[in-house]
Amino acid sequence: MPYHINDHLRSVNFPPISEVKEWLAARPEEGPELIDLCQAVPDYAPAPELINHLKVLLDEPTTSRYTPDEGLPEVRRAVCDRYKRRYAAKMEPNQLCLTAGASQAFWLAIMTLCHAGDEVILQAPCYFDHPMALESLRIKPVFAPFDEERKGLPDPAVINRLITPRTRAILLVTPSNPTGASIPPALLTELYLLARKHRIALVLDETYADFVASQPHELFTIPDWHSTLVQIMSFGKTYALTGYRAGLLAASDEMIRQALKIQDSMVVCQPRITQMALKYGVENLDDWVDANRLLMDFRHSLFVHAFTQPGNHFRLVASGSFFAWVRHPFSRLTGRQAAKKMLDEAGILCLGGEVFGPGLEGYLRLALGNISKEIIPEAARRFRSIPI
Ligand SMILES: Cc1ncc(COP(=O)(O)O)c(C=O)c1O
Repeated sequence: MPYHINDHLRSVNFPPISEVKEWLAARPEEGPELIDLCQAVPDYAPAPELINHLKVLLDEPTTSRYTPDEGLPEVRRAVCDRYKRRYAAKMEPNQLCLTAGASQAFWLAIMTLCHAGDEVILQAPCYFDHPMALESLRIKPVFAPFDEERKGLPDPAVINRLITPRTRAILLVTPSNPTGASIPPALLTELYLLARKHRIALVLDETYADFVASQPHELFTIPDWHSTLVQIMSFGKTYALTGYRAGLLAASDEMIRQALKIQDSMVVCQPRITQMALKYGVENLDDWVDANRLLMDFRHSLFVHAFTQPGNHFRLVASGSFFAWVRHPFSRLTGRQAAKKMLDEAGILCLGGEVFGPGLEGYLRLALGNISKEIIPEAARRFRSIPI
């Protein structure tokens, strides 16, 4: 190879979804029909009225142009209005930057908060992209261990013990990927106060927040929420627009101002067509979002019912609309090996637990976004019938 690749990156885990998709390519054709429980993507289409709205905009010359780095003012205003409805938020447009998905919002957040060598506390099991990004930037992920009894919910006393002078943030995902569990609002307030006491950020990734019926928390009602809270949001799942890369970063105006240096040099702006889609969504689709939340809720209850019938050696530890976190019965196999076995012998594609943090080889993550109600009983049957 003629040029040098950053050696440090070789020590960072490979994206797990790409890894299991590589298994698929090598799969013999005669196996059972695939049930894909691997990626958290809603299987339904975006709202038809949203698509029709965008079709008209495609003919307008401005649609193909850049926008301001942080996004169009009218879109950020419309998003703020939605946060007022959803969170009773005291939020202004200059506290928002629209991003290419929650993924890019996360990069903005950590690059603005941390230097190489700093520490970020994550609750295990954590979303695999988070340690991947932190490690790529030589920021140390410090894992709060998974506690099965708490269904992976963070314990403020445990987190408190992990805080050091190098800690810059507590990073939490609610509802969780991979457990599906939501952090109760009172516990989030406690964690917010803990972060505030230590003058570190509470970074909350709320990618799945729109799949929870009630107001997810009260943190945005605190007048100076932005002195501690940094929120990462994705509208990819909310509006079934994962390919549009619709996300945002919410933080203090000063943090957003500093983050714009990264934004400008990274993507310049969220694509304008995505901003148009987002504006349409936040102004018109609250009922559509509610209907899909109910659909996902319904699928989730069907799944829990089918999966927990007697005779299943896989144990459901925690779950929510998008995910189930399951203990597998193969004591000699890692999560990765158990996931491979499920693909080879049952045609089920899922992820091994260890990609969500150290010591989690005994678990599997099942993503429920892809399975329609017709397939759920068959998926549960395959878990039940695999020889152990
Ligand atoms: C917790 C969490 N954060 C962020 C993302 C990425 O979201 P986006 O597609 O908006 O970048 C995902 C996607 O699965 C996720 O599960």
